[in-house]
This record gives sequence, structure tokens and C-alpha cells, in this order.
Amino acid sequence: MGKASIGAIVAPPFLTSCGNSTTPLKSRLSQEDLARLKNLVLEGLPASDKDDLLLTNGLNYHTIIKWGDRISDNDTFGFNNDFTCFIPFDDDNPKDGLLWVNHEYVNPLFVSGFNQNNFENPRAHHTLEHVEKEMYNVGGSIIRIREEDGVWNVIQNDSHNRRITAKTPIQFNWDFPIKGKTEAIGTLANCSGGITPWNTFLTCEENYDDCYGDFIYDENDMPTRTPSEFSWWEDHYDYPPEHYGWVVEVNPKSGTAKKHIALGRFAHECCTVYELEDKRVVAYSGDDKKDEHLYKFISSKPGSLKEGTLYVADTVNGKWLALDWEKQPELKAKFKDQTEVLIRARDAAKVLGATELNRPEDIEIDPITGNIFVSLTNNSNRKDYHGSIMKIEETDGKFDALTFRASTYKAGGEDSGFSCPDNLAFDMSGNLWMTSDISGYAMNKEDRPYMPFKNNSLFVIPRYGKDAGKVIRVISAPTDAELTGPWFAPDGKTLFLSVQHPGEETKDLAKPTSKWPFDTDGIPKPAVVAITGDLIEKMNYLNQIEV
Ligand code: FEO
Ligand code: CA
Ligand code: CA
Ligand code: CA
Repeated sequence: MGKASIGAIVAPPFLTSCGNSTTPLKSRLSQEDLARLKNLVLEGLPASDKDDLLLTNGLNYHTIIKWGDRISDNDTFGFNNDFTCFIPFDDDNPKDGLLWVNHEYVNPLFVSGFNQNNFENPRAHHTLEHVEKEMYNVGGSIIRIREEDGVWNVIQNDSHNRRITAKTPIQFNWDFPIKGKTEAIGTLANCSGGITPWNTFLTCEENYDDCYGDFIYDENDMPTRTPSEFSWWEDHYDYPPEHYGWVVEVNPKSGTAKKHIALGRFAHECCTVYELEDKRVVAYSGDDKKDEHLYKFISSKPGSLKEGTLYVADTVNGKWLALDWEKQPELKAKFKDQTEVLIRARDAAKVLGATELNRPEDIEIDPITGNIFVSLTNNSNRKDYHGSIMKIEETDGKFDALTFRASTYKAGGEDSGFSCPDNLAFDMSGNLWMTSDISGYAMNKEDRPYMPFKNNSLFVIPRYGKDAGKVIRVISAPTDAELTGPWFAPDGKTLFLSVQHPGEETKDLAKPTSKWPFDTDGIPKPAVVAITGDLIEKMNYLNQIEV
């Protein structure tokens, strides 16, 4: 990036954000920047149930790529795009690089043509051909994109363009086999993710049990396998559930990937990595399941996501509890070794008395204060319908501290104007951007508590001026969709954003509930868009000079 601002340094930031919590800050806000940000007038959008991608004044969008688009002679872009992460080839040219996109899950009706509503016994009609198409459309895409004349284009057939799918063999980064194997077949349920300090992508396997079920253990530690949503294992591929639910690292240039066992196995929403001065890393990740936990890994060696200790949060007492089989007698009594502790991280966390949370989703580090923000999306078990954003302050601001203070930064609800927070991203000035994820079956339904919020949206919480701390809606999603994967380009002039699952509640392809992005075939399609415009640029800093 290599940018800094003219004038006096007024804030003590130590990170640059751009949706990226790992790169040391190379910019500071000047007094001029601060004055400009304080005077910025932000016009919010009202809640809307219109089937369109609506943007507030000062924002524009264009579509970069959508489901089914060709990325090479061999491959097409997958379904339900979520996390995006852009890494330029060259720090001095932020307009040409590789975009990683997660493909979280499929809607078989669109992807394989399998319509379970048509059959009394749907599984008998779920063919191998259906499953192959479904498996191809999850995982991730790497695409080379370049901005020319304000428009981001995919470079067709670039040698970096590739798909990683539920069929791609991926090594475990661990010294012991996982269920007898050293590699898994595929990655799936790729929800959000992160970036490493050494510029590789992290993609997180969230609702892995949708594909191969899971083993749950009773009080006598007897396992039962749960059924899967997509019936892949029941019908065609019996892969072990233990091979999924990991953080997966992908090399942007080679496309090679590995699954990081040391970070534990659960419904990883994201993985947010911070590099300490001695180059050891701290990685935060939440388990997006009702009454599950928040974790952090602290490496014992520089640049390692293997050597180190995984901790789980006791947010009541502000303690990080070590999921360490050697040091915790309660874990030794229940599990046979550290590998089992990591595979059954949820059970191990409960043994240690970790705090049950309301579905932790995305995590970002405030570039100004170093506080850690965690979306807690909702939890009907605890009658928390609108969720909140939790703030973690590590003791003495040290990311490898073993104690912290947790508090609620902002609660969802009609007063604050948002419900079900999910993805977070800080921009270069420290404004917080947030997406909402009200489930399609509950959105705009009279008998649910979500009517006032209408369609899912992107919000910004300005840091400065008269609107500081307010939650302002700036983009409204099409029908049934969720906006995901917000990621700022390194020059702060583009916000990459996924429009995921438009028309998700469709039961009949002849009558889709959404038609976005209004292709001639009338079928709704998930797509990645570039958000540009005056407002994005003004929210980020001006007056930059090279350093
Ligand atoms: Fe896939 Fe927790 O959102
Ligand atoms: Ca999410
Ligand atoms: Ca994020
Ligand atoms: Ca969500």
C-alpha cells in the first residue's frame, strides 16, 4: 500500500484494516482528514423489501462475476459466494491481483436441478449426477481481476484462475492422521475467512454437517452420526465428518491448500489473524452454532498455524482457557490425545467451562484501538432475536494475553436499526461496516420479529462526526439475499461485496422469488459486485502521500 497522509498524526493506530487485520498500519489520519470525516454527511437508506440491490447516494456498483460464469476453459464460478479477499500482485498496483471467493453451499434446485419438493421419497431420486454438480459448486474460486477505467474485469483464462471444490484433495497440516488419513477430499461450507500476514487466503468450513453429518457424543462418549442436509454421505460419498470443520489455508498463486488442525474443529465462521512483533501469530475464530464458543490460537513459533495453543473464551471471567491435553487433567480424563481434543473442540470447550455464546460470526480488530469486535448474530434458544456486537479488550492491549474484558459494543433491535449482525470490516479511517443475516424463512414474515428491518443490508457505523456510533443502512439486498464478504481494495476505492442466495426461498424455477441480477433467463444468481463511488472514497482517507 505504501501510503501515508500529510499533516500531524492524531490517532495511534497500529493496524491497517481494509477488512484485513494483519498488515501493519502504514497510514495515519491527518487533522485535515479528521475534519473532513467529521463533516461528512451520510444519507442512509430506509429499510426496503424491493427485489434489487439498492445503494445510497454516493455509491455505485457493477457485477464482477456471477454463478456459472466461465473463469477458464475448464471451470466455472461456484454458487453462493460469501467471503472475498483481494491480494494485489504488486503493492504498488492495487488494481491488478487475485480475488478469492468462498462458495458456501448450494441450492440444489438451481445447481443440480434436484427438487426435493417433487418427491415423496426424495433421497431415492438424488442421483450421483446431482451430487457431483453440488460438490463442484462449493469450495472457492481464485480469479485474476483487474480494474480498467473504473471497472473490475475477470481476466479470462489467466493461469491463476482455478476452482477448489468438494472433490479437491487437501492435506492436513498435522503430524498425526485424522480418521486414518493425511488428507481430506475437498473443502465445503466455506463461509467467511481471513488473510495471513504472509498473504495467503484462509477459508473457513462452517456448516460442514450439512454435507456429511457429524458425530455427536452422549454422556458415555458413545457417538451417533447426524443426518446431513444434502444427503451426500447417505446417498453417494461416505467421507468422515472429522475431515471437515477446519480452517483451510490456500496459496493464491499455486492454489495448494492445507487444513489447520491446531485451530480446532467446529463451525468456523472466520479466522482473523494478528501478527505479533516477534512474528508469532494470534488467530481468532468463532463457532457459529447456538450456544457455542469463541476461540483464539496463539502460536509458539513465528508464522505458524500449527505449533502453539488453542484457547477458548470464558467471557464471564475474562479468561482464555487452554485446550491443552497435556496441561488440563479434565481433558486427559475424557479424550485420548490432543488430536481428539482438537477434533472434538466443542466438547473439550464445554469440559473446561467455556462461555456459551449467541452464535459468534465475523471478527475484526479495530485498527485504532486494537479492540476485537465479534458479531453475535442471534440465538433463539436464549430469545436473543437481534444479536449484538461484542467487544473484547485484551489485557494491556496484548493479543497474546490470557485475560480480557468482554462487553457489548452494540445491541441489535429496532432502536439501533439492525438485526442479526454477520460480517464486519473496518475501512482505512476506522469506520465499521457490517452486514446483516436475517434468515430467508424469517425475513419479511408477519409472525417473526424481523418485519421492521425488511431485506438484509450493508450498514456503516461512522467513527467521527455527528453520526458517530449510529448504524446507517447504505445498501439493501435483493429478495431473500444476504450481503456477505465485504473487503476493501488496498487503495480504499472499491468495496468487494458478495450478494449471496437471492431468491433462496424459490420452490419452483418457473416462479423465482427474486430475479436479481435480472439475467435474460430470469433465474436469480449469487454474484460478487464492486461497490465504488464518492462515498467509499470519502469514508476512506484522502490527502495520501507515498512513504
Ligand atoms: Fe455462514 Fe455464520 O454464516
Ligand atoms: Ca456469515
Ligand atoms: Ca470481515
Ligand atoms: Ca450468518
